[in-house]
Amino acid sequence: MKLQERVFSGIQPTGNLHLGNYLGAITKFVALQESHDCLFCVVDLHAITVWQDPGELRHNTREVTAAFLAAGIDAKKHIIFNQSAVSGHAELAWIFNCVARMGWLNRMTQFKEKAGKNRENASVGLYAYPNLMAADILLYRATHVPVGEDQKQHLELARDIAQKFNTDFSDSCAASGFADGYFPLPEPLITGPATRVMSLRDGRSKMSKSDPSDLSRINMTDDADSIAKKVRKAKTDPEPLPSEAAGLEGRPEAANLIGIYSAMAERSGDDILAEFGGRQFSDFKKALVDLAVENISPIGEEMRRLMEDPGEIDAILADGAGRAHEIADPHMAEIREIVGFIVS
Ligand code: TYM
Repeated sequence: MKLQERVFSGIQPTGNLHLGNYLGAITKFVALQESHDCLFCVVDLHAITVWQDPGELRHNTREVTAAFLAAGIDAKKHIIFNQSAVSGHAELAWIFNCVARMGWLNRMTQFKEKAGKNRENASVGLYAYPNLMAADILLYRATHVPVGEDQKQHLELARDIAQKFNTDFSDSCAASGFADGYFPLPEPLITGPATRVMSLRDGRSKMSKSDPSDLSRINMTDDADSIAKKVRKAKTDPEPLPSEAAGLEGRPEAANLIGIYSAMAERSGDDILAEFGGRQFSDFKKALVDLAVENISPIGEEMRRLMEDPGEIDAILADGAGRAHEIADPHMAEIREIVGFIVS
């Protein structure tokens, strides 16, 4: 039997949702809902791999949910929920802790970046983080995963885990009626001009929630004035813009701003350079401010409106969790059987 195509993706509720999250992930979610059954998860279990204030965690979980809704995800047709509400994520993650190899996790660059120099003091959860991410996806036997470039290595690990589980338990899978193995190998969807949006202050580092400089990112909740200020202050170089993509080589800040413009205007980089080539950044930045305000401000406003009624957001999450359970629970029962647990 051919597996049904299913999209799964997640965002951490760790505050400062930004333009990188929007262009790298959320706009892709909005597009994919037209063609696929989708689950969009606020990954609160992942968030606590680094200490979170409980009140802020709740606030940020609602805020990511509000961003999904404000960007146009239809919570009736698709599933929006928070990860901790479906216990199968944690349960399958444990099984994957026993499938994945230490050597695989030792190669994860994100752990090295996040743990920094003080690795001994990082939580065990931060180290095992990619196994939980594999569990998120595979619990639903999802086939497609839209993410930004920074998640590529985690997606490769999820495929390795799926493959190893299928091989380790091949006879048991077959006995349960899954001759080709239980898990699909999920495909990363990393497409478009904004898979890696860079900091507005430094074109060589990624735009990130944790950058101490607020000027480095456009937050989804920034008002029009803040967006305009951040674009105006964005780092550039003294040369005018080139007329062709080859001229962006070695000019990371220029390349980043063109990529952002391209994603928001849904126009190719070449097309934009043909228009702005030879002109000063100040001209281009004016157009970029208009575009960014037009794209982001209405979403920020709608997020603020939705956040005024946390009860309504919680009801949407609860409804989504109920429907996520309906998919996850039968899968978890099959997985327990395959692994050899006695189901009472
Ligand atoms: P998170 O919360 O860091 O980011 C959410 C999504 O935004 C993308 N992203 C970016 N894209 C372009 N440019 C940037 N500067 C940028 N920064 C972030 C991320 O690639 C991601 O798609 N581990 C994941 C969450 C997760 C998940 C999952 C994703 C948990 N389980 C299962 C997919 C499937 C994370 O930390 O994303």
